[in-house]
Amino acid sequence: MDRGMFSSGLAVFFATLGSAVGLGNIWKFPYLTGQFGGGAFLMVYLLCIIFVGLPVMLSEFYLGRKSRKGAVGAFATLAPGTGGKFIGKMGVASSYLIMFFYSCVAGWVYYYLIKAISGDFAEITMESAKAQFGSVVVGPLTPIFWQFIVMAVVSAILIMGIKNGIERVTKTLMPVLFILIIICDIRALSLPGAMDGVRFLFEVDFSKLTGAAILTALGLAFFKLSLGIGTMITYASYFTKDNNLLGTAAKVALSDTLVSLLAGLAIFPTVFSFGLEPGAGPGLLFMTIPLVFSQMPFGNLLLISFFFLTSIAATTAMLSLVEVPVAYMTEEKGMSRTVAVLLNGLIIFGIGILATLSADKSSLLGGVTFMDRGFFDWFDYLSSNILMPLGGLLIVIFMSYVVDKKSIKEELTNNGSLNLNAFLPFFFIVIRYVTPALLIIIFLNAVGVIKL
Ligand code: PFF
Repeated sequence: MDRGMFSSGLAVFFATLGSAVGLGNIWKFPYLTGQFGGGAFLMVYLLCIIFVGLPVMLSEFYLGRKSRKGAVGAFATLAPGTGGKFIGKMGVASSYLIMFFYSCVAGWVYYYLIKAISGDFAEITMESAKAQFGSVVVGPLTPIFWQFIVMAVVSAILIMGIKNGIERVTKTLMPVLFILIIICDIRALSLPGAMDGVRFLFEVDFSKLTGAAILTALGLAFFKLSLGIGTMITYASYFTKDNNLLGTAAKVALSDTLVSLLAGLAIFPTVFSFGLEPGAGPGLLFMTIPLVFSQMPFGNLLLISFFFLTSIAATTAMLSLVEVPVAYMTEEKGMSRTVAVLLNGLIIFGIGILATLSADKSSLLGGVTFMDRGFFDWFDYLSSNILMPLGGLLIVIFMSYVVDKKSIKEELTNNGSLNLNAFLPFFFIVIRYVTPALLIIIFLNAVGVIKL
C-alpha cells in the first residue's frame, strides 16, 4: 500500500512545525506564563525543551522513519513481541484525550475569526468582552457547531493525503502565520507601557517556582512539541530518507519557541498597556485581544489577522493529532484512509462535545466534576501532565534498552553520510540518564513523594 510521503526537506520542516505550533503557543503558553509568574516559568520551560523535549523528539523521529510506521506499528516493527506496542497504543489513547478539548478551543477560535470579520467587536468594552466569551463558552449550540466545523475542515484536508493535504496546507500557511504574528507584535510593542509586558515575560522571580509550576512547564514542553503520544513518530514515517533528523528537530524546536515568544510579545504588552490581568487563565486570549485591538487604529484588521493566524495554528496542529489514529487504523486495522478519517472525525466530534459542555462552571455539564475537575480539565490535565511525559519516559527507555545503538546511529547519520561523532555519545547519555531522571524527579515531586 502506498502510504504517502512528504516531498522535500522544506515540506518536512513546515509540516512538523505545523504540528508543534498551535493553540499551545498562542493560547496556553501566554496564559500559563501569566499564571505562573512570567520569566522564571519561561526559564524552566526552556530547560525542559532542551533536556527533555529535544531528546524525545529525536527519538520519535528515529522510531518513525526507521520503521516507516505510525505510533503502534513502529514499536511492533522495530521490536516485535517486546510489548513496546503498548507505548504506541497509549499514545493513540492520549491523542484522543487531547483532540476532545483541542477541537473545542479551536472551535472558539473559528467563531472569533468570523465575528472579527463581520466587525462585531467594534464597540466592545471590558464587560462585554467577558460576557461575549462567557456566552460562547457556555453555548451550548454555538461551540458545538464550531467544533463540528473544525472537524469537517481537518477531515477534508486529511482525506487529500500526506502530500496534497498536510504538505500543501502547512507549506502555504506557516509562512503566513509568521508574517501575521510579526505585524501584531510591531503594533503591540509600540503601545505606551508595552515594556511592562516585556519585563513580565522575561523577569525571573524564583519565588514563583512551585512544584506545580515545574510540572506544568514540563507538560507544556510536551504539549508544545507534540511529544510522547506518537505524533512525531507518525509524521517522521513520512519524512524523506535523506532528511537530517537532528537538524529538523533543532529547527522545529527553535522556531516553535520563537512563535511562543512572539505570541507572548503580542499579548503581554497589550495586556499591561490596557491595565488588564495577566493571570486571567484560559480566557486571557479571548477576552483581552478583541478588547485591545478594537481600541487601536486598524484594530479590526489586526483582530482578523490575529484570529486568522490562531485558526491556522490550531488547524495544522489538529491535522497531526488526527493523523495518529488515522495511521493506526489504516495500517493496523486495514481501513481505507477516507473511512479512517471520517470515522475519527465523528468520534472526536461526538466525545469532544463532553469537553465543550464542561469548559466552564456554568456550562451544561459544568457541575459534573470528579476531584474538582470536569471533563474538559481532566482531558487537558491527564494528557499534558501525565500521559505525554509518561509516554516520553517510556520512549527514551525503549530507545536506551530495547533498540540497538548501531541502528540509531545509522538512521540519525543517514547511513554514515552525516558526521554526528561529537553529538551521538552525548545523545545516548542524555536519553539513558538525564531525560528519565528529570522526568522521574518531576513526577515524584508532583505527587508529593519528594519535595523540590
Ligand atoms: N503542539 C500543539 C500545540 O502546541 O498547540 C498541540 C499538539 C499537537 C499536541 C499535536 C500534541 C500533538 F500530538
